Amino acid sequence: TDRIRIAPSILSADFAAFGAECAAIEALGADWVHVDVMDGHFVPNLTFGPAMVKALRPHVKTVMDVHLMIAPADPYLEAFAEAGADILTVHAEAGPHLHRSLQAIRNLGCKAGVALNPATPAEAIDYVLDAVDLVCVMTVNPGFGGQSFIASQVDKVRRLRAMLGDRPVHIEIDGGVTPETAPLVAAAGADVLVAGSAVFRGGSVANPAPYGANIRAI
Ligand code: DX5
Ligand code: ZN
Repeated sequence: TDRIRIAPSILSADFAAFGAECAAIEALGADWVHVDVMDGHFVPNLTFGPAMVKALRPHVKTVMDVHLMIAPADPYLEAFAEAGADILTVHAEAGPHLHRSLQAIRNLGCKAGVALNPATPAEAIDYVLDAVDLVCVMTVNPGFGGQSFIASQVDKVRRLRAMLGDRPVHIEIDGGVTPETAPLVAAAGADVLVAGSAVFRGGSVANPAPYGANIRAI
């Protein structure tokens, strides 16, 4: 939590070239790789599952930050851990037993994250603060890349940082991060910024240089 980390979301990458896209963003300054798993039930979109995480693992040297937008999540935690995820983030809204899910993630040897939808208050995680390594504040409604930043969430970030006190817990921002919105959330106490469209715009696997400029601009 000592510096700002950029975690590009491969949701905005070329789906036919994920391995090369991961290698490109790492070479060009990404700190983590953010992997968005969607089930078409918890969120209105479908992406991929543990087999994709496993296939990508050899292409990612840094942290694989896996964001599970699935309900239920518990039946799949072991598969994602075995696939090589470093961080597994579940949604607070995805099931009735958040504490159990977070415990299960740590027992599998991963860092435990909890994500909060825009309508979910910071206080929803009051009693699990010691069970988390990362809190992901959704600054869009999850499901799609390229949506606009919901400014009301900045106050939630400030509140969470105060609630966390001196705990070494990351606050990650997911959705609508751009060079304009990044300073707002960083000032409020966020230290990991997920960015999809703002990283991948203007470039391609054949011409990845813009990714580097985009990361530096955030
Ligand atoms: C949204 C995903 C995000 C998304 C961010 O459901 O969790 O990670 O890819 O995309 P941008 O940065 O384009 O808002
Ligand atoms: Zn995400």
